[in-house]
Amino acid sequence: MAEYICLFSKDTLIIKPPKKSPLFSRTIALWFAMLCGVYLYGTCLKHVGTFTMLKFQNIQLIQKPSLEALIPTLHYPKPESFSRGECSLNPVRFFAIISMQRSGSGWFETLLNSHINVSSNGEIFSVIDRRNNVSNIIQTLERVYNLDWFTSASKNECSAAVGFKWMLNQGLMEHHREIVEYFNHRGISAIFLFRRNLLRRMVSVLANSYDRKAKLLNGTHKSHVHSEQEWSLNAGCCAFELQANYQFYITNK
Ligand SMILES: *[C@@H]1O[C@H](CO)[C@@H](O)[C@H](O)[C@H]1NC(C)=O
Ligand SMILES: *[C@@H]1O[C@H](CO)[C@@H](O)[C@H](O)[C@H]1NC(C)=O
Ligand SMILES: *[C@@H]1O[C@H](CO)[C@@H](O)[C@H](O)[C@H]1NC(C)=O
Repeated sequence: MAEYICLFSKDTLIIKPPKKSPLFSRTIALWFAMLCGVYLYGTCLKHVGTFTMLKFQNIQLIQKPSLEALIPTLHYPKPESFSRGECSLNPVRFFAIISMQRSGSGWFETLLNSHINVSSNGEIFSVIDRRNNVSNIIQTLERVYNLDWFTSASKNECSAAVGFKWMLNQGLMEHHREIVEYFNHRGISAIFLFRRNLLRRMVSVLANSYDRKAKLLNGTHKSHVHSEQEWSLNAGCCAFELQANYQFYITNK
């Protein structure tokens, strides 16, 4: 550092006062500044160009589901823990909402559960014991999709669609091969729900961690939407990117 400063001051000392007319040197400086300006402007434009291109780049559909795939396979789950009664012959569809924390999945789940025949069971894999190895995961999934899983979201014997919410960091990424296999085997629809605005998601993560510690008067967390009333209040405000696919698109390669 010291050496650098010495060199610098030497250089400064070497510079002699210009002998040419001040007007000439001023014109040179002006031209130089103009050239620099044009160059910088050009580079900026180029950057903006790539940025916009990235922004509008669309996610490509790997495989379009055929019409047959859209017509669901009929399932007649026979739960062990209760009888489906009059609805034992009604088909049931299986789904899993795949998302990340603070992406609006709670809001989306409330929307689904507001239908009498839909039952979405929440983040069942938030409990570590259920996801510490593949066999535990499959066992949990079997219970959900055999309709033997009971939460406050379980409706009645007439449930026509059953699923739950799965965050990417809850064992899903670690065991994706086996999970894809299982999903294909049981015909489970994966609903990918990601928030388009990542910055908002990050802000929300921070707000939530604050909210968790803060004790509110009524003992509720304001950053979560759970009741139907809260849901309808928020319905107009949020733009989510929703892709419902009939296949699970994480590949093995
Ligand atoms: C998975 O973990 C459970 C304990 O939670 C254990 O009993 C079981 O043997 C483990 N299975 C495998 C395949 O490691
Ligand atoms: C939805 O639920 C109602 C009452 O619980 C039932 O009568 C009806 O059959 C169900 N619909 C389907 C498609 O299961
Ligand atoms: C608590 O709940 C009551 C009524 O349910 C409401 O009027 C009040 O504003 C709530 N307080 C807070 C801090 O949310």
